[in-house]
Amino acid sequence: MLNFEVQNPTQIIFGSNQLEKLSSYIKKFYSGSKILIAYGSGSIESSGLMDSIEKKLLDFEVFKFKGIEANPEFSTLLKAVELIRKKNIGFILAVGGGSVIDGVKFISGAIHYKNDPWDVLLRKEGCVFTEVVPFGTILTLPATGSEANSGAVISRSELKEKRTMGGPLFFPTFSFLDPTVVSTLPKRQIANGIVDAFMHTLEQYLTYPTDNLLQEREAEGILSTLIEISDEVIRNPTSYKFAANLMWCANHALNGNLRCGVPTDWATHMIGHELTAIFGIDHARTLAIIAPRLYEVKFENKKEKLTQYGKRVWNLTGDDLAIAKEAIVKTENFFQSLGIETKISNYTKDSGHIVAEIRKRFEERGWENTGERQDLTYNEIEQIVKNAL
Ligand code: NZQ
Ligand code: ZN
Repeated sequence: MLNFEVQNPTQIIFGSNQLEKLSSYIKKFYSGSKILIAYGSGSIESSGLMDSIEKKLLDFEVFKFKGIEANPEFSTLLKAVELIRKKNIGFILAVGGGSVIDGVKFISGAIHYKNDPWDVLLRKEGCVFTEVVPFGTILTLPATGSEANSGAVISRSELKEKRTMGGPLFFPTFSFLDPTVVSTLPKRQIANGIVDAFMHTLEQYLTYPTDNLLQEREAEGILSTLIEISDEVIRNPTSYKFAANLMWCANHALNGNLRCGVPTDWATHMIGHELTAIFGIDHARTLAIIAPRLYEVKFENKKEKLTQYGKRVWNLTGDDLAIAKEAIVKTENFFQSLGIETKISNYTKDSGHIVAEIRKRFEERGWENTGERQDLTYNEIEQIVKNAL
């Protein structure tokens, strides 16, 4: 087992009808009175969640910031930074999915940052957020795990860029996970959530055999549970049992546990982020497009784990190599069964330039030798994207 260090300070409040505790949780982390509710395009208003939240915050002076987009935009987030500075707000409540929560992570770091915060996202030398405004979250979409991790992904559409940030300062102080929010989600977003959670697990599992037997089984448990509940939760999003299991799986898939003591890949996410930056394809769908093609191109590296995954998760039997290949097919079929298409051409007709463009971006950033064995070459990246067209 590889050495590791782990600490996850986020307090999780899981279950329905827990908002009574909201005010006391904020007071645990903030002694002032001014808080900002940051949210997306308005689903929390139409679902009634905003009303319920406001009723629980009568002890505070509440400001609101509406309009954090799916794939949160740098320029929008800067407006929230300005508002917080101007009003001297001391706590942020993020209410939404991964985009709102990621956006709030960025906002919380940018408030005390004196220079251009884009430099932090470009990871320019010496450019880091060193102080944050505390924030908590109310999750409305089980998918990213952002409610219990310290990462964020921020977009800048005028540059067609999508960049990551994070670090120990960016764990939410608390997160409310109420599975009943799934009932108002469009089927498309539920499917996205299942695939994103599935792929977070595969990124930390489909590498090479490890000695961390518990982690292997935990990953397989998440994958198997997601397969077991996927049809039901899409067909019947008001079922508490299935929604709760989706929410808990998505949380476990990226709360930091699965990476302990094992190699991780993340190349599918790196390539997928470029597809969102260039074409605006939903995050989870970019993963469904890239992952099967990446597993084919890196088959030699991954065949042992593909076989294990095929046997334990898909219950395949027979010849090991045939199982490994069939496991890739099963994975792609699973994504398609959720209504998610797995070719770039399903999303855009304008993809001719994309192969060279993505290679160029990786080259410019010096992102060679990624993946669990640090051996994914520019040529292979090009091949993966070409095969995904
Ligand atoms: O804007 P609102 O009105 O909130 O509507 C949202 C949005 O249109 C809607 N929605 C959310 N909860 C709802 C709801 N509609 C009805 N009922 C509800 N209960 O769903 C739409 C999509 O929301 P979004 O937050 O964009 O989805 P998701 O949670 O999938 O987040 C995607 C973002 O997270 C990043 C992605 O790159 C992308 O930018 N990721 C963040 C990660 C992290 N921080 O750890 C890891 C992931 O790999 C990912 O990269
Ligand atoms: Zn993801």
